[in-house]
Amino acid sequence: MHVGIIGTGHIGLVAGACLAKLGNEVMCADRDEAKIESLKRGTVTIYEPGLQDLVTDVTAQGRLRFTTSIAEAVEHSEVVFICVGTPAKKDGSADLGQVEAAAREVAASLSDYRVIVEKSTVPARTGERIARTLELHSRPGATFDVVSFPEFSREGSGIDDFLYPDRIILGVESPRAEAVMRRLLGPISAPLMVTDRNSAEMIKHASNCFLAMKISYINAVANVCERVGADVLKVAEGMGLDRRIQRDFLDAGIGFGGSCFPKDLAAFIAMAEEAGYDFGLLKEVRAVNDERKRRLVANLRDALWVLRGKTIAVWGLAFKPNTDDVREAPAFEVIEMLLGEGCAVRVYDPVAMPNARAALGDRVVYCRDAYDAAQGADAVALVTEWDEFKSLDMAAVKELLTLPIVVDGRNALDRDALEAMGFQYYGLGRAATAEQTPRELRVA
Ligand SMILES: NC(=O)c1ccc[n+]([C@@H]2O[C@H](COP(=O)([O-])OP(=O)(O)OC[C@H]3O[C@@H](n4cnc5c(N)ncnc54)[C@H](O)[C@@H]3O)[C@@H](O)[C@H]2O)c1
Repeated sequence: MHVGIIGTGHIGLVAGACLAKLGNEVMCADRDEAKIESLKRGTVTIYEPGLQDLVTDVTAQGRLRFTTSIAEAVEHSEVVFICVGTPAKKDGSADLGQVEAAAREVAASLSDYRVIVEKSTVPARTGERIARTLELHSRPGATFDVVSFPEFSREGSGIDDFLYPDRIILGVESPRAEAVMRRLLGPISAPLMVTDRNSAEMIKHASNCFLAMKISYINAVANVCERVGADVLKVAEGMGLDRRIQRDFLDAGIGFGGSCFPKDLAAFIAMAEEAGYDFGLLKEVRAVNDERKRRLVANLRDALWVLRGKTIAVWGLAFKPNTDDVREAPAFEVIEMLLGEGCAVRVYDPVAMPNARAALGDRVVYCRDAYDAAQGADAVALVTEWDEFKSLDMAAVKELLTLPIVVDGRNALDRDALEAMGFQYYGLGRAATAEQTPRELRVA
């Protein structure tokens, strides 16, 4: 089939490349000329495991092309995906400006029937708005259906998540569009649920916010663990053995960030409010998450007493491992707090250094690797749990640090091994050693 993608970012490019791999002829459009130029030259501008190779392959086979012309992408396609950004406005609600602009531009190029797929994450009833915009701005004779096909993939495993999803949700209002989408998605083997458009849009927001809630839940549990001398890792493991709960998303740490959870949470709260419902539960999810970064800095303060004048090594800048995406990355908030306290900060991330440099400028020291970051630092804070941090030679790190202090914001390192080596280890929710359990709580 012929597919057009409007918005060739993290989601649009992965979707385009995967649909091309499945045998479709895909044309990806973006208004960002530099991005399209780079893609035409064969260079992917984001880090996503496997994406560069996949794009190279399907481009060489002539099944993936790039353009800055939306008209060209629309003319080329039976199905047009809208994959533009939906950032948060100041009040938390979703800014749908890019979606509206894309819909207007698609409308201007519509001649005969097209299926317009809403892939961006949007509040319920956005599909209705897109349909109305298409109606208002398209030429007489143009016909279309708007389908909601929410994206559940995660950065870092985007290709596998697209090709082997847990489920496909289709919010579709016409049998014709359903038939087109079933034909397009036929090669993907996954349970497919067809529902109305508003419910499909709700499923995406409700799912993301549920996962965010799970993270905040275990983080709140971690706070209690610290106070009663329990270990949140063991608590999460025990909870996760229950099939009704599952272990995923029960990793206590400094909380979630990234381009999805924080903005989707804010948008869902705002949308519920607009609909007349105060979603207090989700406001608390956000409050718990906001506090986590302060908790990590409090641990550093606990370890070093006065932070002013101290040097802190920060390991990891991307919002999670296996991506170079630093949008809403917890590391930035931690770094801002440390700089505000008067610390010098030495940073390292395996792939996100260029993006971090663009955001932080010359206010931190950029290091070659994790060892270089530790050089002369008073403590190291692990912020993003890249695998390479789990297999470092920690004896060498200890030699490089001024003080043997590790603050593990992701509970990713081996506490027992580090303590045996003479490190002072601070996890989150892990006050289980005798020294760390508050004296008044110790059993005589
Ligand atoms: N990143 C993820 O992991 C993820 C996961 C699920 C859902 N989503 C959702 O997918 C959507 C896109 O997210 P993303 O991370 O890919 O964003 P992104 O910022 O990486 O990409 C968006 C792209 O759209 C382009 N664009 C904007 N307006 C345009 C227009 N009118 N015409 C052509 N191009 C235009 C931008 O130049 C940009 O390249 C968002 O709604 C997001 O919430 C993202």
